[in-house]
Amino acid sequence: MDAKHVLVTGGAGFIGANLVRWLRHRRPQWRVTVVDRLTYAGNHRYLEEVMDDDEVELVVADIADREAMEGLFSRSAFDGLFHLAAETHVDRSIERPDEFVHSNVVGTFTLLECARRHWGDKNRGGRFVHVSTDEVYGSIEEPGQAFRESTPYDPSSPYSATKAASDHLVQAYHRTYGLDVVITNCSNNFGPYQYPEKLIPVVISALRDEQHVPVYGDGGHVRDWLYVDDHCRALVKVFEEGRRGRNYNIGADNQWTNLELVYAICDRVDEVLARPQGHSRRLVRFVADRPGHDRRYAIDASRIRRELGWRPQIRFQEALRRTVEWYLEHMTRVWGI
Ligand SMILES: NC(=O)c1ccc[n+]([C@@H]2O[C@H](COP(=O)([O-])OP(=O)(O)OC[C@H]3O[C@@H](n4cnc5c(N)ncnc54)[C@H](O)[C@@H]3O)[C@@H](O)[C@H]2O)c1
Repeated sequence: MDAKHVLVTGGAGFIGANLVRWLRHRRPQWRVTVVDRLTYAGNHRYLEEVMDDDEVELVVADIADREAMEGLFSRSAFDGLFHLAAETHVDRSIERPDEFVHSNVVGTFTLLECARRHWGDKNRGGRFVHVSTDEVYGSIEEPGQAFRESTPYDPSSPYSATKAASDHLVQAYHRTYGLDVVITNCSNNFGPYQYPEKLIPVVISALRDEQHVPVYGDGGHVRDWLYVDDHCRALVKVFEEGRRGRNYNIGADNQWTNLELVYAICDRVDEVLARPQGHSRRLVRFVADRPGHDRRYAIDASRIRRELGWRPQIRFQEALRRTVEWYLEHMTRVWGI
């Protein structure tokens, strides 16, 4: 395997930090430069274990800062880029959409311009892996249906609208300037290092403290869940073997209603903390639904399975148990909660 130098944007966030660790373990000869603005969702502690390593470097900068990004591309001849930096929390996007336009749209545009200038025109290689979400497809109304790569975009929230805009820009840079891009649209991820404002860590921390667990609406919203390590493996797969200009959906065909998921976490927490079974389920409380809340997401990942031979490797209940154990052990040290 050739040594490579890759840029990981948002590498101090949830998926980015898992990807950097994945690369250190599975591609140890690669050099990794992380660029991250260290917003509330990013944390250099997520990279603690790998930061002493000479092959990993953290640059604190805003991806929408053209001068800073030009500087980065001028000083290093990257072989590729995994673009994960983004504002990602749907509730925050409803309150403050401007940050989402800045990072997700202007930030992506800035990186595309740098990539085009430094790789595209001179055809010097570099592959741009743009990491996006299944939320760009909107909501599925009928059970049994699933998003395919050909499903028209129909985003509902400011978050998914800015991700959709960035996907279109990336595709346009491929078609217009011949930039080597691959776009991935992934379902909901879970695993270590996810900021405790998202569903799974929120539920675990509330249960640990025997607080009520809020569930939106009737708890019947369906999400398709993927363990973050399986996502990281898929990202490296498309970087190494994906077809230029192609979109790949990534998902484990693992749909649960929010209520089923919350109950599964309750049971894992009871198990790990040796509480009587059923103890935590009593803490669930329904709260007012979020505006524009998509009812159902389900992703058809048959293209990446068929063309690249990727498939999830970790069983859901096992991954959930590992995740619950990780949060119970690390939440206080990492976030002081
Ligand atoms: N978490 C999921 O379930 C999921 C699913 C599919 C796709 N995605 C996509 O994967 C990517 C990573 O998601 P995540 O869950 O790890 O998000 P996250 O919020 O945990 O991390 C995002 C990281 O980006 C950084 N960042 C934000 N704006 C920046 C800017 N302007 N300049 C530099 N850094 C900036 C933050 O500091 C943070 O470290 C996002 O693009 C998201 O849309 C996430």
